[in-house]
Amino acid sequence: MNTNLASATELVNAMKNDLAQLAATGKVQVVLCPPFVYLSRVAELVQGTAIGVGAQDMYFQAKGAFTGEVAPAMVADFAQYVILGHSERRQYFHESDEIVNKKIHAALAQNLKPIVCVGEALETYEMGETDVWVRGQIHGALKGLTAEQVRGLVIAYEPIWAIGTGKAATGAGANSVIGISIRGAIADLYGEDVAQAVRVQYGGSVTGKNIDEFIVQPDIDGALVGGASLKAEDFVAICRAGLKKMER
Ligand code: PGA
Repeated sequence: MNTNLASATELVNAMKNDLAQLAATGKVQVVLCPPFVYLSRVAELVQGTAIGVGAQDMYFQAKGAFTGEVAPAMVADFAQYVILGHSERRQYFHESDEIVNKKIHAALAQNLKPIVCVGEALETYEMGETDVWVRGQIHGALKGLTAEQVRGLVIAYEPIWAIGTGKAATGAGANSVIGISIRGAIADLYGEDVAQAVRVQYGGSVTGKNIDEFIVQPDIDGALVGGASLKAEDFVAICRAGLKKMER
């Protein structure tokens, strides 16, 4: 919950040219996920570029008496992506795996590409139960999806203790959860081929300075960026690191 109309516009304008150039290579995908109320403005600002737009959430019902909620089709008017199951949604708004699963089905029905977040709390991490927890979230999130649908998902591994804290995971630690727990769970359910095809990002205190540590990892395909995306220079540096990986 950051920016207002003026500062969101200023932020997009400050990074648009650099991001458009990166996205135009076709080697990296760059997506901006503003608050709902600025989706239409941001979509307008990036129109004609290969920069994607995503929402930070949506409701799973198609329409009806759900005052204050935003339907998948409303998001699809402006965006191609939607973040689902962010830990803050799970923690503060009580979104269960079942709700996240319903939202994924609803997004896919609108041809929106879900960016599905999973990740463990500090206690779970400290008890050494990350693998069981993350596998459980993956199983819950993917229920009823076809292999083809799963292949097209973006999954973000975001340990809760690393989000907004300035205490990022290590590259090797994040790579191991993504490789073993996330791709491992997907391989159990859909086979190794699908597990390798899914795009998996790391998120949690990623900056222009530490991105290299994550992006060099074999199982990390990109980053879901919070705080650093509010600084044009930092976000461009993060996207540049993605291109560097693809050109290696
Ligand atoms: P952060 O946020 O990059 O500020 O840690 C990540 C997120 O909210 O997903």
